[in-house]
Amino acid sequence: MVARAFEAGWAGVFYKTICLDDIRKVSPRFDAIHREGDHGDFSAFRNMEQLSENPAEVDFEILSRLKRNYPSKIVVASIMGSKEEDWITLAKMAEKAGVDAIELNFSCPQMRLTGLGSDIGQDSELVTFYTVFAKRAVSIPVIPKMTPNITSMNQPAMGAFFAGADAISAINTIKSITMSSHGEVNGKKTISGLSGRAVKPIALRHIFEMARNPITKTLQFSGIGGIETWRDALEFIQLGCRNVQVCTAVMQYGYRIIDDLTAGLQNYMAQHGIDNLADIVGEELMNFALPADLDRDSIVYPRIDRELCIGCGRCHTSCMDGGHQAIAFGDDRQPQILGNKCVGCHLCSLVCPTGAIFLAKRIKKKG
Ligand SMILES: Cc1cc2nc3c(=O)[nH]c(=O)nc-3n(C[C@H](O)[C@H](O)[C@H](O)COP(=O)(O)O)c2cc1C
Repeated sequence: MVARAFEAGWAGVFYKTICLDDIRKVSPRFDAIHREGDHGDFSAFRNMEQLSENPAEVDFEILSRLKRNYPSKIVVASIMGSKEEDWITLAKMAEKAGVDAIELNFSCPQMRLTGLGSDIGQDSELVTFYTVFAKRAVSIPVIPKMTPNITSMNQPAMGAFFAGADAISAINTIKSITMSSHGEVNGKKTISGLSGRAVKPIALRHIFEMARNPITKTLQFSGIGGIETWRDALEFIQLGCRNVQVCTAVMQYGYRIIDDLTAGLQNYMAQHGIDNLADIVGEELMNFALPADLDRDSIVYPRIDRELCIGCGRCHTSCMDGGHQAIAFGDDRQPQILGNKCVGCHLCSLVCPTGAIFLAKRIKKKG
């Protein structure tokens, strides 16, 4: 499976987490949030998976073979121990297998026992503790993978930094519940991890905070969470990631999405005269301000393109019932913006199904 990914053009693999415990999977184990009337398309995806079911020796042999057969590809072993010795044993096994780096899974939200997975990622001391164990055991790079099920990822990330981590992966899945029959196992439901398109803004926020933190910003970031297209990957890079990972989108569309990811980024680089992708890592970080520092003295009104407007009235409905009653809509089905009422919130442009409502020029607010 991984060899096929390499052949398809992927640069490397963060392989399924390897452990020394007995893992037995549930069925079914996935659920998805679909767009209304669009079954098959995942807005979000929920999984009840734990770690690799293979014996550790089998997985490390696979990784070893992959690295031998594809020396130019990056092979990362993800590991999770249930006690100190396990972390050390697994880290050493990974290094012996010849992998390029080790990812420490501090973030799976649906482990069988407490004190594992995201329980570690929520506790800075444990993150420091286990990162130190792994770092002391091996000389290859060590990459803790963080949980978003926490108020601020900065605290555990700083713990990882002080323990000598070489990079951070973020995010793992977000604790969640879905209520359909796919979300239950033989009549019982559980809390488990959400991934896919819907989690991207949350992943970006965590990456942003770590990339801006004076201590953790010196680490490298491997961004993951809802990446489907080259634009998604670009956003993570612009916020400070030197590497991105994709999980749910591959499960949904297969390996072929690498073609969009690489061709799209190449086109973007050519259009913007960028020679090296590394040049744009973190370039958007400077464009952020605190809410208190945002410009509150100017306004951008909506502008309606009459060619594109189909007269559906959705802008009017949303503005009437959820906005500021600033769009008139009569029998001619031509929405009119009422300048004296419009606050420039742009709910109208977001609900417009044809993209007919644009941002006009920013002007100074009156008064
Ligand atoms: C079915 C499934 C299995 C996963 N297994 C692991 C795992 O073994 N180790 C791990 O660190 N993360 C695991 N994850 C989390 C993903 O690596 C990733 O962090 C998360 O899904 C967000 O990225 P995405 O939106 O691209 O899927 C798994 C996710 C899914 C959907």
